[in-house]
Amino acid sequence: MAQQNNQGREQWASKIGFVLAAAGSAIGLGNIWRFPYKAGQYGGGAFVLAYILATFLIGIPLMIAEFSMGRSTQKSPVGALKKLRDSRFWPLVGWMGICSAFIVLSYYSVVGGWILNYIYESCFSSFQTGMAGVRFEELLARPGQQMLWHFLFMAITVFIVRGGVKSGIEKCSKILMPSLMVILFILMVNSLMSSGAGEGIRFLMKPDFSKLTRAGILEAMGHAFFSLSLGMGAMITYGSYLDKGTNISVSVLQIVALNTFYAIMAGLMVFPVVFTYNVDPGMGPGLFFVTMPEIFARMPGGQIIGFFFFVMVVFAAITSAVSLLEVVVSYFIDQLGWSREKANYLLGSVIFLAGIPSALSSNILKTVTLFGGKNIFDSLDFLASNYIMPIGGLLTAVFVGWVLTKQEKEPELKCGEGSFHFYGIWNVLIKYVVPVALVIVLLYTTGIMNF
Ligand code: TRP
Repeated sequence: MAQQNNQGREQWASKIGFVLAAAGSAIGLGNIWRFPYKAGQYGGGAFVLAYILATFLIGIPLMIAEFSMGRSTQKSPVGALKKLRDSRFWPLVGWMGICSAFIVLSYYSVVGGWILNYIYESCFSSFQTGMAGVRFEELLARPGQQMLWHFLFMAITVFIVRGGVKSGIEKCSKILMPSLMVILFILMVNSLMSSGAGEGIRFLMKPDFSKLTRAGILEAMGHAFFSLSLGMGAMITYGSYLDKGTNISVSVLQIVALNTFYAIMAGLMVFPVVFTYNVDPGMGPGLFFVTMPEIFARMPGGQIIGFFFFVMVVFAAITSAVSLLEVVVSYFIDQLGWSREKANYLLGSVIFLAGIPSALSSNILKTVTLFGGKNIFDSLDFLASNYIMPIGGLLTAVFVGWVLTKQEKEPELKCGEGSFHFYGIWNVLIKYVVPVALVIVLLYTTGIMNF
């Protein structure tokens, strides 16, 4: 397979490498942390079903759209939209992607830093019963520590992106994703052997449709979208390193299957121990940094299990962070002609600096609020996940569904190995179903309409 296209653009070395890199982007804190607690809140199996349905109806069509845009233009988001329609408006969609990748990475790296801190601590001391909440508060209260760990997480990300597509991103995904799978599998089996297994499995899998409210369905739709890293140009960028020999429909099905599989495994790892140790399953966001350490404190061998748990989480976070940085860096390489080294070091540093207010938002800048009383960190997350990403996804769907012609779209879906593709159904979904669904999600998450 050609590893450079005829303009000398770097390409993925193998199909599996591409699938693992895209799955690495998709599988992140969303799968391991957000999915279990959302499922816990909205009726277990009923939420899982809604999530899978949303993945098929919204996630798959949009991911196919993003990969096709990237591959047909061989450009990152801004360049891709410019090449397809050089108007005033459409390249803005690419710009939105870059801005949201920038914003999200600035605070994602702060969370990545917290995880590194937990790994470090679990090397030297065991988790202590009743102390998890206090220790987390302590970490949040220390500006210096948070900055140090945030810096370290960004440095790791920059180090990987520096290697480029094949020897940086692809290579790290090929190592980290299988390792993640092995650790997650062992932790899941260990958890399934605990006494709360039956209750945990029932909690996650038994569909309680009475809890699947309208809000639950909309959460499932929003989560499917977030969890597949859509709407911010990440998949356009990864698609731009793809050659014509790859069948996009097949790859997307593989990526989505992996993403769903990891999310369910994460749920099967978390809930059995949650019930065994009698902690609150509907705990929400704190599940991760407070509930799990509390469980590790009470569990035999908890220190080592906790260590591997956080190592697994950081692997998932790193491959997502890498794809966020690549979106930003590839703009400077493609559109401004910078070298990868220069773009990477400079943008990596700027994003580190931009993340400092988030790192300080739980201590020195605690009193600074942006939207509706939310601190800086929460405001950025709110803005990116509730506004920029869904708007980006909506505009992408409208662009591909209504602006691009059949001649521009069809060949992208039909090329590549094998005869399997679904152009007809896909076109209907991207034209009608995805835009309507995303408008409803937007109205819901922004609170404009009360469902
Ligand atoms: N999908 C990631 C997760 O599950 C989060 C995410 C959303 C993301 N959009 C992204 C990651 C874009 C990388 C690029 O945690």
